[in-house]
Amino acid sequence: MPAATLKWFFWTPHILSSHTATMFEIKSSLPTDKPAAYAELATLLQGLLTGETDFIANAANTAALIFNSLPELNWAGFYRLVAGELVLGPFQGKPACVRLQLGKGVCGTSAQQRKTVLVPDVHAFPGHIACDAASRSEIVIPVIKNGQLLGVLDLDSPQHGRFDAADQEGLERLVAIFVTAVKI
Ligand code: SME
Repeated sequence: MPAATLKWFFWTPHILSSHTATMFEIKSSLPTDKPAAYAELATLLQGLLTGETDFIANAANTAALIFNSLPELNWAGFYRLVAGELVLGPFQGKPACVRLQLGKGVCGTSAQQRKTVLVPDVHAFPGHIACDAASRSEIVIPVIKNGQLLGVLDLDSPQHGRFDAADQEGLERLVAIFVTAVKI
């Protein structure tokens, strides 16, 4: 499907009760203007995480928001740094590899280098770890708070070359919001 025809779905908070609960529902789609879409997502994520500092809870909602909002994803989620390994955290998508070594694969490379790694073609990335055979491209953003590596955010797509610099910028902004919200 040509990128120009992809729809950017986004979620909007719907207050069921001002005192008891907030639900999220798909309200509409956005145009393919990535900076605008990520700006909307940043606002939504900020609202979603406000008042909550728990890493797992916030990672779960962040992964769910991203997976259900961005087009052409087959996996979105977190790996946490635990005792020197990346351990599977909250995610959306098919069951995935549980433990990844630093320096190995896309996630381990991002964690070791503490930099975002953008892979247009996973088959051309030496050491790529194929948790889902459908994945064709991938982006991994390190999650760092006060200089401490907490883990990574990993997004996979079945579309070759799905992620670009606008995705990197937008996703790094979402991770910054996540990092600010969580307590360590
Ligand atoms: N492809 C990743 C492994 C994690 S899964 O994609 C969820 C990697 O090479 O590190």
